[in-house]
Amino acid sequence: MKVLILGSGGREHALAWSVRRSPRVTEVVCAPGNGGIAEVARCVPVDLKDLDAMLRLAEAERPALTIVGPELPLSLGVVDALQQRGFRVFGPTREAAMLESSKAFAKQFMKRNHIPTANYAVCSSPAELEKMIDHFHSPIVIKADGLAAGKGVLICSSRNTALEAAHGLFSGALLGSAEGQVVIEEFLEGEEVSFLCLSDGEHVAPLVPAQDHKRIGEGDTGPNTGGMGVYSTDSILEPGMTEWVLHHIAQPTVRAMAEEGTPFKGVLYVGLMMTARGPEVLEYNARFGDPETQAILMRLESDLVDALEACIDGRLAETELRWSPGAAACVVASSSGYPGSYKTGFPTSGLAAAAQVPGVQVFHSGTSRLGSQIVTSGGRVLGVTAAGDSLQQALARAYQAMAEIQFEGIYYRRDIGHRALKPKG
Ligand code: AMP
Ligand code: GLY
Repeated sequence: MKVLILGSGGREHALAWSVRRSPRVTEVVCAPGNGGIAEVARCVPVDLKDLDAMLRLAEAERPALTIVGPELPLSLGVVDALQQRGFRVFGPTREAAMLESSKAFAKQFMKRNHIPTANYAVCSSPAELEKMIDHFHSPIVIKADGLAAGKGVLICSSRNTALEAAHGLFSGALLGSAEGQVVIEEFLEGEEVSFLCLSDGEHVAPLVPAQDHKRIGEGDTGPNTGGMGVYSTDSILEPGMTEWVLHHIAQPTVRAMAEEGTPFKGVLYVGLMMTARGPEVLEYNARFGDPETQAILMRLESDLVDALEACIDGRLAETELRWSPGAAACVVASSSGYPGSYKTGFPTSGLAAAAQVPGVQVFHSGTSRLGSQIVTSGGRVLGVTAAGDSLQQALARAYQAMAEIQFEGIYYRRDIGHRALKPKG
């Protein structure tokens, strides 16, 4: 069968690599893809903001299965549009994807369905926000309602900085376009866990847990990024916690979405904060995480295509996901300057040597091909990912492979997974 993957990042490279391993798959097409994806898939150009272009591509390629990677095409309704034309697509409809594309919707949904999350207020004007803000203690979290590529959350140390941030979101000064709604949220403390599960609209099947490292700097300092590295081990969650999260968060979410007439099929990414009160939802994403997917799929032993098709067909309850018991880790190499402005077009070297390290896959996030060379083309450039029997082994392999790789301005965090290796006390 032919599989079409929409997207161009490390997540899509990992999806293409995993899909390729399925004996049922004969061809993988990725649009638009990147320099590394081109090694495992045929890459074709498409504008992920242009619904008609994506439909034309599907009509031309006639894939048996389409997998949507990023949030933007989901929020535009690419799944609805492709389904209407008879294509089989893995991903939520536009309305179901509102769990991610509108933070106001997500918060109100959680509240009416008793899903644990931080206290909040949704405000539609600066005046309303000024009134509501006195109900919150500092630090105060201010969030844009809409998609903001990781730039829409501001953690503010005082009432004044929170007001300033909210005004910046309402006016458009902060994100470039004005927000109609702004969410004020209570600040939660604890460890973050990325809890992803597949859903067929009724049943859920958890993937292995992962922990992302969102800040650019070592020791979790500096500005937020799309994610600078991630690891996955079963021990991220205490025994029994997977069942608790399924029972109190994931299943109620999927059940309520169905009851409200917007069944959620696809991958539900629950961003959790493990607070002293128990796990609470920081955010939902309606897609695979990036770089979580790179580490998670390294641990998947069963067939990804079978699992995604079971979601489309409502057969998830009969489908078994099998995982390797060890660990996987992904360390992201970024361009100097990221998440601010950065230069691209620098040649890379050492990718082949890196791939020789046992257990390693080098997933490309922002590269392109220039003749025989792979050059940088994004802020996050590579996700050097390794599997191992233990987290120590996976990390050692990822860093050994990373040491082979060079491009001008290469930056990566040297402390991915270190919190998990520290004795708990
Ligand atoms: P989000 O885009 O909602 O995932 O937020 C991005 C990051 O901001 C999260 O991964 C957290 O690190 C942080 N964050 C979001 N909401 C809160 C909150 N209520 N309390 C503390 N940190 C938060
Ligand atoms: N790694 C965070 C995300 O995919 O949203």
